[in-house]
Amino acid sequence: MQPLPSSVTLFEVGPRDGLQNEAIPVSAEVKVALINMLSETGLRRIEAGSFVSPKWVPQMATSAEVFAAIARHQNVRYAALTPNMRGYEAAVKAKVGEVAVFAAASEGFSQKNINCGIEESITRFIPIIETARQQNIPVRGYVSCVVACPYDGDIAPQKVAEVARRLYELGCYEISLGDTIGVGTPSRITEMIKAVSAEVPINKLALHCHDTYGQALANIYAALQLGVATFDSSIAGLGGCPYAKGASGNVATEDLLYLLSGLEIETGVDLKKLIDAGNLISKQLGRSNQSKVAQALNFA
Ligand code: HMG
Ligand code: MG
Repeated sequence: MQPLPSSVTLFEVGPRDGLQNEAIPVSAEVKVALINMLSETGLRRIEAGSFVSPKWVPQMATSAEVFAAIARHQNVRYAALTPNMRGYEAAVKAKVGEVAVFAAASEGFSQKNINCGIEESITRFIPIIETARQQNIPVRGYVSCVVACPYDGDIAPQKVAEVARRLYELGCYEISLGDTIGVGTPSRITEMIKAVSAEVPINKLALHCHDTYGQALANIYAALQLGVATFDSSIAGLGGCPYAKGASGNVATEDLLYLLSGLEIETGVDLKKLIDAGNLISKQLGRSNQSKVAQALNFA
């Protein structure tokens, strides 16, 4: 077994993945307040919105407003999802620091999520990636359903590897592997990452765990052992995907940070400040903070 990475990048997706599924509109002001607090925690990567159809994801309709109002921290790169050229152009206008294209390893999810098959989605991403290269805007690539799909069932690791390779070869600087419905366990995650890392260098991979079955931290620990050093997480464990019924929030950033601190892995992120940000958004949503670590420390 190789040594664990000495430092890890936390990619905060709470303001996007965390909030996109909320049925009641969260105001732009609240999103801005959350992003501003997150920006002071030491996080360097924050996904702050997405430029998708407001008919498909109404909660993200205020993304341009949010990007215009945040107090940008010099150490933080603010990201947004862009499913097509229209979204990309809106993102550039909003002065995003990086964009993300999002594909899936399953046809069923691709159809439900972005209304086209995998092949066509990649065709749509080519001009985005090409224009972004000319404009010096980094593009992240997501692959959803890396373990299983709510429509197509189990997904072969080889299929994940194939989609990841194509996005990487097209020019995505990093590939985030999404266990969209949180069904993975360490052995399946290990098998999947081994297959993908045969095609894409391990230091270009990120793991994006939803915690539906409570396996996210175990899966992250398995990925750390393979050398993965970037993890997506969501403040207060917020989240879910509107096109993956039953998918719960991402692994809570606070819980991930506690795990990494315990392993003496450097992140540069302050736990107390994170918990304050998680408490703020949980209060706004009228629910308790879903992070176990925040719960333990809030009641200490
Ligand atoms: P479509 O209906 O096939 O596209 O949707 P269309 O081109 O026919 O457009 C439909 C309408 O949307 C039109 O408006 C367009 O103008 C408008 P109308 O004429 O009907 O009034 N439109 C847009 N508006 C604003 N911004 C845009 C845009 N594009 C079109 N960029 C489309 C195709 C991709 C647009 C749609 O399916 C969509 O927006 N899907 C987004 C779904 C989404 O955001 N899902 C959640 C994010 S992915 C995720 O959560 C997984 C992840 O976390 C990883 C994991 O966990 O696995 C990343
Ligand atoms: Mg997700």
